[in-house]
Amino acid sequence: MTGVPRLLYGTAWKEDRTEALTELALRTGFRGIDTANQRRHYFEAGVGRGLAAAYRAGVVTRADLFLQTKFTYRAGQDQRLPYDPAADLGTQVGQSMASSLEHLGTDRVDSFVLHGPASGYGWTDEDAETWAAMRSERDAGRTRWLGVSNVSLRHLQQMAAAGGEPPTFVQNRCFARSGWDRQVRAFCVERGIVYQGFSLLTANVEVLRHPLVARIAQRNHATPAQVVFRFAHAVGMLPLTGTTDGAHMRQDLASDTVSLSDDEARAIESLET
Ligand SMILES: NC(=O)c1ccc[n+]([C@@H]2O[C@H](COP(=O)([O-])OP(=O)(O)OC[C@H]3O[C@@H](n4cnc5c(N)ncnc54)[C@H](OP(=O)(O)O)[C@@H]3O)[C@@H](O)[C@H]2O)c1
Repeated sequence: MTGVPRLLYGTAWKEDRTEALTELALRTGFRGIDTANQRRHYFEAGVGRGLAAAYRAGVVTRADLFLQTKFTYRAGQDQRLPYDPAADLGTQVGQSMASSLEHLGTDRVDSFVLHGPASGYGWTDEDAETWAAMRSERDAGRTRWLGVSNVSLRHLQQMAAAGGEPPTFVQNRCFARSGWDRQVRAFCVERGIVYQGFSLLTANVEVLRHPLVARIAQRNHATPAQVVFRFAHAVGMLPLTGTTDGAHMRQDLASDTVSLSDDEARAIESLET
């Protein structure tokens, strides 16, 4: 997809290292950055400082980048809120977006994601109201695309049935034991939605140790982590990595050089460890 890099750098859980790691990721070659206006897990203002440092040093310009942030409901936040909790959801979405743009030093992000639906069971009226407000942000030019995260097939089906405009992105934790989120990925393929996978390494430690993956890694003089990222691309995913290590950043970006046959990709897809 034009304007969407092959791998996104995730900025969660980096606290006071966020600025330096964001800058390092850009210097190492990442052009896609994932964050959220959720201070509990992300330090979005630190991401903005990392971007500013990279711009100042001439490493990248804003136009080179894909910047993605999220709106997080009150239930997913701590006391450090980017909006007035007493305001209606539409107002909260607008305030969260305004705060994200300020943090990131830009007047438009590339993707604005609903961090998670209000209920684990289905797409609610609250979600529909929030989604409508997110569309207004998009229509006002403050984001190019919209996405949803932490969704089940049921959420997506109900969202579609409610007449909600389909998202451009779905971002989910991806477990090999569910066929790497097979059902949601199939829904995404049918509708032309880009599936973003996270926790590809941490949720699948058995895969990293699996003899098949070890064999492919050995043949390629690569690491099992690189094989997993290469596999993710082979099955049409847009993977995220949140590595804090410069060597791992380089390896993750170089994972496309790993050779993987269609049969091997299918075999990894069916590991269900
Ligand atoms: N939407 C959501 O609700 C949600 C939830 C969670 C995460 N996310 C996003 O996804 C991003 C990624 O999160 P994640 O859950 O995938 O975990 P992660 O933060 O990327 O952690 C990956 C782990 O794998 C290691 N690693 C990375 N590359 C490696 C390599 N080449 N070789 C060996 N180890 C490697 C890292 O260790 P080192 O640091 O030592 O490399 C780290 O321990 C987050 O930062 C966030 O942006 C979104």
